Formats: sequence, structure tokens, C-alpha cells
Amino acid sequence: MKNKNKTVWSNRFGKTNSKNFQRIGASINVDKRLYNEDIQASIVHTQMLTKKKIIPRNDGIRIIKGLKKIKTEIDKNKFKFKEKFEDIHQNIEKRLFQIVGDSAGYLHTARSRNDQVVTDFKIWVKKASLDINETINLLIKSLLKKASRNIDTVMPGFTHLKNAQPISFAHYLLAYIEMLYRDKKRFKNNISLIDECPLGSAALAGTSFNIDRNYTAKKLGFRKPTGNSIDSVSDRDFAIDFLSASATCAMHLSRLAEDFIIFNSEAFSFIEFTDKVLTGSSIMPQKKNPDPAELIRGRTAINYGNLNSMLTIMKGLPISYYKDLQDDKELVFDSFDTLKDSLSMSIELIDNLNTKKNNMRNMAQKGYTTATDFADYLAQKKNLPFRKGYAISSKLVNYAERKKIRLDQLSMKEINKFIKNTEINIPKIFDVVNSMNSKTSYGGTSTKNIKKMIKKYKSYLN
Ligand code: ARG
Repeated sequence: MKNKNKTVWSNRFGKTNSKNFQRIGASINVDKRLYNEDIQASIVHTQMLTKKKIIPRNDGIRIIKGLKKIKTEIDKNKFKFKEKFEDIHQNIEKRLFQIVGDSAGYLHTARSRNDQVVTDFKIWVKKASLDINETINLLIKSLLKKASRNIDTVMPGFTHLKNAQPISFAHYLLAYIEMLYRDKKRFKNNISLIDECPLGSAALAGTSFNIDRNYTAKKLGFRKPTGNSIDSVSDRDFAIDFLSASATCAMHLSRLAEDFIIFNSEAFSFIEFTDKVLTGSSIMPQKKNPDPAELIRGRTAINYGNLNSMLTIMKGLPISYYKDLQDDKELVFDSFDTLKDSLSMSIELIDNLNTKKNNMRNMAQKGYTTATDFADYLAQKKNLPFRKGYAISSKLVNYAERKKIRLDQLSMKEINKFIKNTEINIPKIFDVVNSMNSKTSYGGTSTKNIKKMIKKYKSYLN
């Protein structure tokens, strides 16, 4: 009973920690999220210890029973987490003593919290990476659905936010699918690097007990045990990789959000959202604002910040374990939560988005977006070097600009002033849909290509 409220190291200590330090030094409010992984790793560790006859079989059985009971208590919200015991590892060990008595004392044989925490954390990050990839798949599905309905929707593509060339809205959306597939690969690659189990490295030096690290590694789903006990407890590369992949993915979502904010503005009016994803103004009765897109864009800062914080924690930290490392989990959990929310808000935005096709098409016709098509025509059909065709097309644009008309409003007579014998159907060259569909090169915006790509992306999902 007396030991109940004592820390593990109380025999060595003359005084208990100050209340203030206890609060600041404890990580339980954050790392209780690792309870499943902690219990899983402890059970496997105990099985290994009994198999290797390092601890008595009966005590091992009692420990495992107790750990399972603790899991149920936490699952059912019946577990009392105590700041006094600092973190999830000691909270669980303390409770185990209450449930199974002295048998609990065998659990921490041949391990330290240093290898314990990094084992739990690696298992968690692995699961989180798979979870993020599943959510990215849902976003890809939403994008594919929206793209399928907008293959013929022509809009201006921009460079420098100036009208550049006509493109399909579907092609624009598919650009984000490419980014998201790269994101998925990043998270997947990270998993292959996480795949080494640190358990058994103990504090930093390894252990004199005859443990079987291959057994624990395999049972915990790792490919093999880590190779150096010092690196094992000091390595947080996997956290940095996760934060980095999250920051890059958040950056992609932020660009999508920014595009939507621009396209949804009155000035552009290319798209609109249903009320499900809009908010009003407390003073301006007419307003409907795309808040989710702004949150996605803004919160990318959180993902960047967490990566930067983790890199900075590691910089200059002597190797093996230091308390600095304790804050790694808050950063990773926060990035995971933020990215998951941003992904699900992106899905909702896409699902609630309608295109204003006429506005898009009208805008695609502005800004002489088919001037390049005319230069291409002169190069392809009139055998001019491209630079010559480009120069003639520039003059045509200057002429149309002076006359305040679009290129497709020029008469053949006017065009013939710039290039003789333009026999074929020039006005067709200036048509934005024709322009879009002429881009048949691999990866281009023609509807034919888009249909092929949609099929390909769909096949990747299965
Ligand atoms: N709560 C600690 C952390 O998250 C566990 C490891 C503690 N190890 C130690 N030597 N204080 O990093």
C-alpha cells in the first residue's frame, strides 16, 4: 500500500519532485495515446522472457493477464492516469503492481523506457502512415469522381495567374492526384525504414540477459531488430520522415485550397460550393465564405512548424536518450491529427463543389489563350520554324488587342494579312475546346488522354 503512490526511483530520492516540475515533466496527457502499442509490446516482451526462461512462467502468465485487464480498463475509460507517474509506461507498470502484485516486478527485465518508448512510437507511426494513406485514397476517389464529370469542362490554365492555354478542369484535378500518389509513396517508403525493432536495446548498451530480439521483432511486425543499441534509443528519423511526408502532403492540400479560394471568388467565379462547407458573416448578410479551404491552407503552417521543431530538437542532441526527445510525440500526434482533418476537409470541399462551366469557358476565351495554337499551326502546316510562327502570332495578337476582339473573332481576310494562303479552317484553331483536345502528347490535356489517365488512376486504387 505504501508503495502505491511512490515513484519507481523513490528509494534513491530524498525529496519528491516539485508540483510544478511534475506537471511540466509529465507526458502522460500526450503519450497515453500509445497505450495499445505499449501493452502490445509489453505482452510480446513478457512472452519472450518466459520463452527464454528469463522470468518464471507463472509470473509471465500473470503479467499478461494483468496487461490485458489494463487495456480493457483504458478502452472503457476506467483507467486513472496519474501525472505523478510521468508517462504511459510507468502508469501501466504501477497499475500492474496493483493488479498482479509482485509478479509485475518481472516485466521490466532486460528493457528500459528508452527502448520501450521508441518501440511503441514506431508501431504507432507505422499505423498512422497506413491510416493517412487510406484517407489519401478517399480523397483520390473524390477527385476522380469530380474529374469524370468534368472531362469536357474547358477553363483557362494559368501561369503567373495570367491566362495561358485552355485546359480541362478534369486535367487540372488530376494534377493533384499525381501529387497525392507521390505522398502515398512517401508514407509507404517511410514504413520500410521504420521496419526495425528497437526493443531489447534497453537503456543504451543492450542487456546481459539472454533475450531473443528476433522473436520480439517478428511478433511486433518488424522485419528485424535494430543493429546498434545506442542508435536504437536515440533515433527519431522515422518521426522526422513522418512529419516531412505530412508537411509535403499538407503543402499539396494548401495549394488545392488556394486554387479553390481563387476560383470561388467573385472575380473568377469558376466554381461554387454548397452551403455544407461555407460560413456566413456576422455583419455582411450576403456573404458565403469558403472557410474550410482557408483552414487547410492556414494549418499547413502547423505541419511545417512541427517538422521544424523536431529537426531542431535533434540538432546538436548528443546521441542516446535525453529528455528533449519526450516532446517528439506531441509534434507527431498533432501533425497526424491536423493532416487527417485537412484531408477530410479537402474531400468535403471536392464533394460539395460545382463548376460554373460557362464562366470557365468564357474566361478561357479571354487573353488570347490560343495564340500558341496558331504558332503551332504555322510550324506544322506551313513549315515555318516555330520562332517565325511565334512572331507572326504575336503580331496577330497585337492586332486583335488593338481592335478589342478575340482571336476567334478575326476574319480570314484579316488573318491573311499576316500569313498568305491560310487555306484551312483557321477559326477552328482559335476554338478553346479544339485547342484543349489538340494536346494529345502523353500527359497532355486532351479528353482522350484524360479518359485514359482516369482509368489508370482507378486501377491503382485497387
Ligand atoms: N516519457 C519518456 C519519453 O517519452 C519515456 C522515456 C523516458 N526515459 C528516461 N530515461 N527518462 O521519452
